Amino acid sequence: MAELFWKGKNGSDRHLADRHVLQTCEGFGGRVKAGATLSTTNDWHNRLIAGDKAVVLPALLHEFANRVDLIYIDPPFMTGRNFASYSDRWCKDLDAYLQWLYETLILLHQLLANDGSLYVHLDWRTTHYARIILDEVFGFAPNAEGPGFKNEIIWHYQSGGRSRRSYARKHDTLLLYSKSTEYCFHGERVGERRGQQRRNHMRKQVGDDGQVQWTIHSAGKLYTYDENNVLTPSDVWSDISHLQQKDPERNGYATQKPAALLERIVLASSEENDLVLDCFCGSGVTPVTAEQLGRRWIASDQNPEAIQVTRERLLGREELRPFVVQVTAPQSDYE
Ligand SMILES: C[S@@+](CC[C@H](N)C(=O)[O-])C[C@H]1O[C@@H](n2cnc3c(N)ncnc32)[C@H](O)[C@@H]1O
Repeated sequence: MAELFWKGKNGSDRHLADRHVLQTCEGFGGRVKAGATLSTTNDWHNRLIAGDKAVVLPALLHEFANRVDLIYIDPPFMTGRNFASYSDRWCKDLDAYLQWLYETLILLHQLLANDGSLYVHLDWRTTHYARIILDEVFGFAPNAEGPGFKNEIIWHYQSGGRSRRSYARKHDTLLLYSKSTEYCFHGERVGERRGQQRRNHMRKQVGDDGQVQWTIHSAGKLYTYDENNVLTPSDVWSDISHLQQKDPERNGYATQKPAALLERIVLASSEENDLVLDCFCGSGVTPVTAEQLGRRWIASDQNPEAIQVTRERLLGREELRPFVVQVTAPQSDYE
């Protein structure tokens, strides 16, 4: 199997040496719209955690190893920029970035349930490296038939400027990996009706009941499709717009992703009450979507602004399950 190397590559569990614990500093009870009921799981509280992923993920391990059903991460892309909300500079040090990503992916793999899935959202700058690292951490199987790689999703959008020196770079890449072959996937929940639209390579038949069916012969077999069949979306997503400057969904956090993107991911790759994790939650799109879709969640970010924006976004909801805000503290303070 091919493997990626960089200066200082180190996959050891050195983070476990300086253990941190999570300390609750604020708690919020749930609330329900008049006349509605909200499903809750025993005395579970969702968690919004302020802290560097290098401290938060090891702190979560002893409680949540192999227990997280779905992880979405949208880490810094190594753009070399200073965003208003956080820095993504890295001083052109690709080695440092790859080691940082590697350590993150090892910990996320340890947290993921055996039937869990991980989505890693990046762009042209580092996707190709991430994919080789993910193959190493999750295992590689030819033709995506084992644990590991499932999809390379292209999220195509139309945003502002266009270069004159190259084709305009107008997509991000989401890598989907599963820990085993028994992973949760519901393409039918996020697909489109096949509909009546003409298909050149298929024959249209209208039944006595007026229902339209499409047929095609392939390899000696006849395949029949009903117009009401739901098609699993393909791995190119161009139907979700990026957030325009004046989009009412925007909350001022740089690099905020649209809720529609997370809705698709959460619906397709988790069940109600499943546990969803995002350790780079930024504007809070993952916890807010998980909350809306009745999933449990843990969200963290090292930037205090991200915690503030996410907290406000959650508290602005009419319906809300109980959640706590936590910070990290060195374990030695408690010994
Ligand atoms: C691309 S943004 C995430 C945007 C988010 N998906 C959204 O839609 O708003 C990356 C986030 O990673 C956070 N971050 C960067 N380095 C981190 C670290 N070492 N630990 C935790 N968070 C980090 C930044 O503060 C930033 O909020």
